[in-house]
Amino acid sequence: MNYGYFDNEQMEYVVTNPKTPVKWINYVGGLDFGGFIDHTGGSLICKGDPALNRIVKYIPQLPSSEFKGETLYLRIRKENGYEIISPFFTPTLTPYESYKCRVGNGYNIIKSVIDGIETEVKIFIPVDAQVEIRDIKVTNLRDETVELDIIPLVEYTHFDAMKQFNNADWVPQTMQSELLKTEDGFTVLKQFAFMKKDEEVNYFTSNRAIDSFETDRRNFLGDNGYGTYINPLSLQNESLDNYVALREDNIAAALHKMGAVAKGESVRVITQLGQYSELEDELKQMARFRITSEVDQAFVDLAESFKGYFSKYQVTTPDEDTNTLINIHNPKQCLATKNWSRFLSLYQLGLGARGIGFRDTSQDLIGVMGLCPEETTDMMKKLLSTQRSNGSAMHQFFPLTMEATNGDSAEMEDRHDYYGDDHLWIIQTICAYVKETGNIDFLSEEVPYYEKDHDGQPLNSDTILNHMKKAIEFTESQTGQHGLPYLGFADWNDTVNLPIGAESIFNANLYGKALIELMSLFNYLGDQEQVLTYQAKYDKMKKAVNDTCWDGDWFVRYFDHQGEKIGSKVNPEGKIYTNAQSWTVISGFADGDRQSTALESVYEYLNTKNGIKLSFPGYNGYDPVKGGVSTYPPGAKENGGIFLHSNPWVMIAETMVGNGDRAFEYYSQINPISKNDKIDEFEVEPYVFPQNILGNEHPQFGLGRNSWLSGTASWVYTAGTKYILGIRPDYDGLIVDPCIPVKWDGFEVKRELRGKVYDIKITNPDHVSQGVKQLLVDGVEIEGNKIPLTNKDYIVVEVVMGK
Ligand code: GLC
Repeated sequence: MNYGYFDNEQMEYVVTNPKTPVKWINYVGGLDFGGFIDHTGGSLICKGDPALNRIVKYIPQLPSSEFKGETLYLRIRKENGYEIISPFFTPTLTPYESYKCRVGNGYNIIKSVIDGIETEVKIFIPVDAQVEIRDIKVTNLRDETVELDIIPLVEYTHFDAMKQFNNADWVPQTMQSELLKTEDGFTVLKQFAFMKKDEEVNYFTSNRAIDSFETDRRNFLGDNGYGTYINPLSLQNESLDNYVALREDNIAAALHKMGAVAKGESVRVITQLGQYSELEDELKQMARFRITSEVDQAFVDLAESFKGYFSKYQVTTPDEDTNTLINIHNPKQCLATKNWSRFLSLYQLGLGARGIGFRDTSQDLIGVMGLCPEETTDMMKKLLSTQRSNGSAMHQFFPLTMEATNGDSAEMEDRHDYYGDDHLWIIQTICAYVKETGNIDFLSEEVPYYEKDHDGQPLNSDTILNHMKKAIEFTESQTGQHGLPYLGFADWNDTVNLPIGAESIFNANLYGKALIELMSLFNYLGDQEQVLTYQAKYDKMKKAVNDTCWDGDWFVRYFDHQGEKIGSKVNPEGKIYTNAQSWTVISGFADGDRQSTALESVYEYLNTKNGIKLSFPGYNGYDPVKGGVSTYPPGAKENGGIFLHSNPWVMIAETMVGNGDRAFEYYSQINPISKNDKIDEFEVEPYVFPQNILGNEHPQFGLGRNSWLSGTASWVYTAGTKYILGIRPDYDGLIVDPCIPVKWDGFEVKRELRGKVYDIKITNPDHVSQGVKQLLVDGVEIEGNKIPLTNKDYIVVEVVMGK
């Protein structure tokens, strides 16, 4: 059973059955103004911060059939009263003749035919304006003329998204609506919380005269709110009440009477939902988007901006699903994680507990580095400004206030108040940026540390290069009895939180990888002394890892506070953890045969047809010392589930030992594109990676959850483009180092680097997995496998693989 298909020509996924197992979403706009929309027309929109400035009330926990955030009604006059239709299927659930939701790049287009009326609604946010546009076109397919009304509707939330749910006294008293008539006669329905009436005013308007409106939910539903969104009683009246709400649940419902619409005739209404602080400027923008040609152009511009973004790396491989993933959907998801971190999705509710995560966003930025490197600098600096002067980092921050928190680590006294990994991640990010752009000057830019004086001014600042050195120093100063870095409150795995004294091999490896990156940077900068210093640190940690962590067939994952192993064959549960194997290869720490032995153990004990599990066997019962990991049943999430984020790390490790077949097997088995025909098992969107899939210890093996905002996006993109296809920038050139399935005859990549286009054709006549035997750059043979930098704009590269 499937619920739709991929339309690669249009770069869209097309939902053809609205009754998907869970809602399927898409992102519009960005954190400045935007949010997500679902395939039945619901929306969650905010401006600047979903926790502190939310506009639309979208409650994911309500059943899929319910009204969520925004919708659209049509009504058709009958002899007695009106027929009410939802062109989005929900909330009226009127049977449809056809239903299509085109999930596009920064937009959805929903087109349905219900009871002889065709409706097409384009939902998007223009690239250059902060307003959600709904371009509604209704066509009468009946054999007769109908009298038709169009009623778009939005339900507002209090700006403080959490308060909306935990304060039913103050919040409803503050919510207000107001009517504004523009000079040229258009209706603008304003909405705000009283304290924000001069600074954050939400509004809803359209490009047509309206007959009437309603701003109070209870009135709209009718019968003191015992009417429903399925059948709002007020829609049976000739007109709405024009009621201006002074409290409680505010909505904007605008009744557009389109009059008689003849057979075959179409009518069009364009709505706008926005928020302003300066009315004058906003009025100009409202006027702009009342002009249909402006709306059409804005939609074209949006498509163009995505095309430009995708064009930076395009491939043709023998595998169609790989092409679809790398050319469209993977980079699209990378952009969503770059924009939203783990802040706002159907699963990450953005209610205030989490902001922009230090480790998450550091990794997300790596995913877009080849696609829009200059769009990452601002965020890198913001992240660094939440690093403490001892080198550790705050765990997350809220972008509107730049206030940072220690995350959950602040809560338990016998645990560290820092995360052992956060500060190390950004070293890879910064180095990736410099390799991509060559912008060495970035390293000398000054960025403050997080500590502030009484006036909120930073106490000290440092160059970006020194921020990275500080991160290394911090980990170096925080090692335990085996010489490994302390776990901190947690390492990458948020759910294993052990008392102070516990050590983490993951942190050791992340430190090792960071040192490799910095050594290569210092080498490029010509600072040999620094290279030697870091080499000594690297060698010391490598020895500690090999001396203490080898368990016979794999590496252990942690030592707890009492020095006991976790992730060892001596443990009855949690015997083997994936990350301890992949990362020991990535860091280069695993000695000799241990690399491939550890990776074989992953294949043997942790691999399934739906992806690699994080650990095995799952903990079967709550253990307060281990904490979060044991709150899940075995096979779910971090407790032995298929936590997809860690899958690409195994792919990368496999390419590092030259095993292209295995790397690609891992890549393909989790490719969501190929889940399209297994949706009743997988359930979530087939066009993005979910964060987790239930593992084979769970009865619902194969079920995906927490789609969209996961480090999986960035790392699978990295694994696919930089390691399997093997095209990755270095400080002084573009490396070509594919590690592919032996059966591939070759592939092609068009990749931009520093404004130049590299048109690369790779052939594999000897059917090897890895190895470049000939490299021709514009016809000239080059030694090795690195394309040198050049001034030319278009470079033709021919590569022959072989031994
Ligand atoms: C979630 C968190 C991420 C963490 C991972 C593993 O995806 O966002 O920070 O590393 O879980 O626990």
